[in-house]
Amino acid sequence: MKVLVVGGAGYIGSHVAKALMQSGHTVTVFDNLSSGQKINLFSQNVFVEGNILDYKALCQAMKGHDAVVHLAAKKAVGESMENPMLYSVNNISGSINILNAMVETGAKYLVFSSSAAVYGMPDKSLIDENTPLNPINYYGFTKLEIEKFMQWYDQLKNIKFVALRYFNAVGYDADGDIRGKEINSQNLLPIIMEVLSGKRSELKIFGNDYPTPDGTCIRDYIHVSDLASAHVLALEKLAQGMASQSLNLGTGKGTSVKEMVEAVEKVSGRKVPVVYAPRRAGDPAILIASADKARSLLGWKPAYTDICKIVQTVYSIN
Ligand code: UD1
Repeated sequence: MKVLVVGGAGYIGSHVAKALMQSGHTVTVFDNLSSGQKINLFSQNVFVEGNILDYKALCQAMKGHDAVVHLAAKKAVGESMENPMLYSVNNISGSINILNAMVETGAKYLVFSSSAAVYGMPDKSLIDENTPLNPINYYGFTKLEIEKFMQWYDQLKNIKFVALRYFNAVGYDADGDIRGKEINSQNLLPIIMEVLSGKRSELKIFGNDYPTPDGTCIRDYIHVSDLASAHVLALEKLAQGMASQSLNLGTGKGTSVKEMVEAVEKVSGRKVPVVYAPRRAGDPAILIASADKARSLLGWKPAYTDICKIVQTVYSIN
C-alpha cells in the first residue's frame, strides 16, 4: 500500500514508518517537525514538511495514497489542562482535516494513535475495550472525540479505521536505525535516563502509598517497535475487510515505578538516586491493558515482555 504517515518524523511515527517499509509498503512522511526530527527520516521515505492545519498542503500530500497513519498530536497531559486551545486546534481540528482530506483524495484506511487516557481513572486495573470511556484530562478527551469523529466518517463516508489505544510507550528501535531521541519527554523512563546522564539530580517518585505491592504506581510499558508492528497489521487487516475497531495496545504485564528504577539499575550497573514526592494529580494506581482483542483480531503479539530487555533498547540511541 501507499501510506501517508502523518507525524512520521516523531518518536512513535518514525518506528511505524520503519515497520511499514520493512513490510513492503511505500511510505510518505508528512510532519511539521514541531516535535519530529529530520534525523528520524529514512532515505526511502518521501518527506513532505507540512502542517495538518494547512488543509490544501495536506490534500496535496495525501493524493495517490491508499491509507493514512495519523500520529500528529500534542500529548502532554499537564499542558492540555493549562492550554486546552492548543489541543482543540492541533488534535481535534487537525484530525478533522485529515478525515476531510481522506474523503477528498479517496484514501480509504486510517490507523489512528489513540491512548489509554480515554479510560481516565477506571475502577478496575485490567482494562479491556469495554471499560467505560471517561477521560479525566483534556488530552484524553481529544483522543476520545477523534475516535467518535472516525465512527461517523466510517458510517457516512466509508473510511475504515483502527484506533490504537497505547498504554505507556517506551524504548527505541533495537537496531539503532532511529536516531532522534525524544525531546523534552515528561515520561518516567526518559526522566530516569536524564538522572543517569546528570541532567537531573534525582528521580522524584510520585507517591509510595498506593495500594500496590511496593506502594508505587503500576503501568503497562509497551515497546515502541511492538506498537509499530500493530499499526502495520491494523492497516493490512483493514485492507482485507476488517471492520473499524478501537484496540488496546499493551503487554498485559504491570511494572511499578520502583521496578522500573531497579530495571534501569540492573541494565546500567548504576544507582539511580530517588526521592519520594507527593502523589501526582490524576495518576491511577494501576493501569494494565487487556490487549486480547488486538491479539485475536490482528494476530499481534508484543515481542518485548521483559522490562530489562525494553530498557536495554534505550541504549541503542545513547
Ligand atoms: C500519561 C498518559 C498517557 C500518555 C502519556 C504520555 C494517562 C492515564 N496516561 O501516562 O495517555 O500517553 O502520559 O504523555 O493520562 N512518575 C514518577 N516520577 C516522574 C515521572 C513519572 O514517579 O518523574 C510515575 C508516574 O506517577 C506514573 C508513572 O511514573 O505512575 C508513569 O508516568 P508517565 O511516564 O508520566 O506516564 P502516565 O502518566 O502513565
